[in-house]
Amino acid sequence: MILPIYIYGSHVLRERAREVDIEKEEGLQTLIEDMYQTMKHADGVGIAAPQVGKSLRIVIVDGEDLADDMPELKGFKRVMINPEITFESKETAEYSEGCLSVPNIHADVVRPRQIRVRYLNEKYEEVEEEFNGFGCRMVQHELDHLDGHLFTDRVSQIRKKILQSKLNKMAAGKVSTHYKIAQK
Ligand code: NI
Repeated sequence: MILPIYIYGSHVLRERAREVDIEKEEGLQTLIEDMYQTMKHADGVGIAAPQVGKSLRIVIVDGEDLADDMPELKGFKRVMINPEITFESKETAEYSEGCLSVPNIHADVVRPRQIRVRYLNEKYEEVEEEFNGFGCRMVQHELDHLDGHLFTDRVSQIRKKILQSKLNKMAAGKVSTHYKIAQK
């Protein structure tokens, strides 16, 4: 089922999402499937549960649609439950980012070039994995959502000033998307 996406200004995007108790959480596989469909429908390459209004520590990344330009992303798809960063490189990289919850805005963000993450996959197996390149970028962007951060928090001061009026309009509900958005 395609779910409405919560937009900049929504409270759920600013909360620290809670740990998933895989034994007790009901409908977890359905939520994961719905998140995936919602992401694909919106032409996204990543989504975090708070973006569909669920304050839970679950993210999905899928780079397949970018694989023509970035062959490293061929088959790069992960479901990550309760992800935890166990290493961040000091070396950084800058990439342009966008977000389904912050439509029609792109901006450069500096983040660690390499990270390691421990998480449960969709089969609830524990995995520890290292990420590099654009995949690393996608994962960090999504993990940020679980702690209430948006990429626009991380852009340069000057860029933020330029974006602020657009963001204010968005928070006031003035936004246009090709996908369904949630009413706050
Ligand atoms: Ni995002």
